[in-house]
Amino acid sequence: MEFDEFKRRMLVSFRLDLNSYKETQLKRRMDGLLARQKIKDYADLLHLLTSDRMAYQTFLDHLTINVSEFFRDPHRWLELEKKMLPELLQPRGTIKIWSAACSIGAEPYSLGILLDELGPTRPHRLDATDIDKTILDTAQAGRYNQDAVRSVGKERLSKYFTASGSHYLINENIKKMVSYKRHDLLTDIYPQGYDLIVCRNVTIYFTREAQDKINKGFSQSLQPGGFLFIGGSEMIFNYQELGLEKISPCFYRKRK
Ligand SMILES: C[S@@+](CC[C@H](N)C(=O)[O-])C[C@H]1O[C@@H](n2cnc3c(N)ncnc32)[C@H](O)[C@@H]1O
Repeated sequence: MEFDEFKRRMLVSFRLDLNSYKETQLKRRMDGLLARQKIKDYADLLHLLTSDRMAYQTFLDHLTINVSEFFRDPHRWLELEKKMLPELLQPRGTIKIWSAACSIGAEPYSLGILLDELGPTRPHRLDATDIDKTILDTAQAGRYNQDAVRSVGKERLSKYFTASGSHYLINENIKKMVSYKRHDLLTDIYPQGYDLIVCRNVTIYFTREAQDKINKGFSQSLQPGGFLFIGGSEMIFNYQELGLEKISPCFYRKRK
């Protein structure tokens, strides 16, 4: 079976749109998976995925890299903490945030920590989604190695985490601020009414067409005046067309 036919069958059977992932990277990762798991070809891979639910999870784990950490790119998070969040919190009191493609939960919990510091005891809404169910289970467990917390300052580490051997557990008060849900950015309907959407280091895996569709979806999901926080190596070329203003390299704002 050719790779194109495999992609077509994955869309039909799993509603998984592999055509929206950059072809070269995707093919490299999929060929690596075949070699590692000693799967002969794409026909055998499809058969495995349709007959074994766990194999599908492993497949999703290989689709993109799950690497994440708390306050990834610290100076951008500082900008969020000092400029965007106070601006949102000041008139509204409570805010609604979406961490899209949240991976292991380090990103939504970083947001939870900032909300606890800047607007404590208020009923904020913090939604976190990812395509990968296994990674959402990891996020809900909230247990992190040293690498994941390397940008967390000492004070925050002792206030918001409990050490457990060589790992750190995020405290319950932050954990319970986050609602996790499976969501595919390519095929699912986008939730609405957010003051801040954080989607970092995921659209780099997608084709330009898919990026446009996702950014349009985010713009429609934002409240007027709401912010979109993207990754350091990402860029929205047609932001004006989408009704966004560029504030700084990682931040866009929905026009009022
Ligand atoms: C590199 S991680 C980014 C994690 C976090 N946002 C950060 O910047 O640290 C990429 C995540 O995108 C998720 N992902 C890949 N394709 C997706 C899709 N179509 N819809 C939603 N999430 C997706 C992966 O499961 C993975 O957890």
